[in-house]
Amino acid sequence: LDRFNNLELPAAADLHVHLRDGPMMKLVVPTIRKGGVDTVFVMPNLVPPITTVSAALEYKQRLQQLDHSVNYLMSLYLHPDVTPATIIEAKKAGITGVKSYPAGVTTNSASGVVDYEAFYPVFAEMERQDMVLNLHGEAPSVPGSDVTVLNAEERFLPTLLVLHQRFPDLRIILEHCTTAKAVSMVSQCGPTVAATITAHHLHLTVDDVVGDSFNFCKPVAKTPGDRSALLQAAISGNPKFFFGTDSAPHPAVAKRGGSTGQSKAAAGIFTQPFAVPLVLDALEKAIVKGEIKEDDVTEANLRGFLSDFGRAFYKVPEGGRIMLQRGEAKIADVFADGELEVVPFRRGEATWGIKW
Ligand code: NCD
Ligand code: DOR
Ligand code: ZN
Ligand code: ZN
Repeated sequence: LDRFNNLELPAAADLHVHLRDGPMMKLVVPTIRKGGVDTVFVMPNLVPPITTVSAALEYKQRLQQLDHSVNYLMSLYLHPDVTPATIIEAKKAGITGVKSYPAGVTTNSASGVVDYEAFYPVFAEMERQDMVLNLHGEAPSVPGSDVTVLNAEERFLPTLLVLHQRFPDLRIILEHCTTAKAVSMVSQCGPTVAATITAHHLHLTVDDVVGDSFNFCKPVAKTPGDRSALLQAAISGNPKFFFGTDSAPHPAVAKRGGSTGQSKAAAGIFTQPFAVPLVLDALEKAIVKGEIKEDDVTEANLRGFLSDFGRAFYKVPEGGRIMLQRGEAKIADVFADGELEVVPFRRGEATWGIKW
């Protein structure tokens, strides 16, 4: 792995981030550039969710006040308040996409989508306005069904196909894909369909999640075979697969099951401060284990996954450049501001340092 001691790459585009609001936003936004990222696609699942153009623009201003050098691509939360007229207004205001959460599958998704057909007029307007539809691709678990966290993504894939066939010119992203079946489905769709891949899903399998709530996120990590498919997709040079960390910070107490110790752990893994280093670490581990071939990890494929492919799909320009040095950084045990503590993924481990 010697040729990977030093790397110069374009700044990464992280096309799926949760930056939250209030004190958590203040803690998280300054870590975007630390992770080697200059462009982010910002998720709208605040409390309450962002369903109006004005709420999205005000949120963008709050983010810019914390770091004006990051390019924030904004989104709306798909909801009955979002109408075709909202889409026209959103496009004019420079909003990039609309995120769809199936009702109840993850953090703040109680007001998510139950029936996709009800939104066909919205999707049709998005297709006309050339906006991006971001799908949280998990089938909801309704009483009596056999949907579990392990098969929920696979069960969602027919919905992706139906939407793509009905709206072939609509740019659709299957967010944070976690399975070999999803990789295969996205590969078979037309060029308007892409998928994001997180850093943590290049590291984890379901065994790592059981018993460690800091590795718990939605969708949960799957089998070693699924992880291999993600690793292969990430270095394939196929522009349909690009980087989106899904960094999802929660207060440490919420990850540990809440202050009473009675409730379930919050879903979400915080990777923002080490976004690019965590990808390189995963690829190195996979090379050592023989899961991927070192020769396949070319500079062109790396920069495609981390920067070029996402920017091309979203039609956004390149930013600055980053220098990476192997083993030059250590992942902190905790990021804190006063009482608020957030524990990063792979806390305490050595990783790549970044210079801008
Ligand atoms: C819950 C889950 O895991 O699905 N989310 C969470 O713990 N953050 C449920 C929910 O919020 O809908
Ligand atoms: O694990 C997750 N956490 N998955 C999501 O889709 C949402 C996210 C969050 O907002 O915490
Ligand atoms: Zn999601
Ligand atoms: Zn997310």
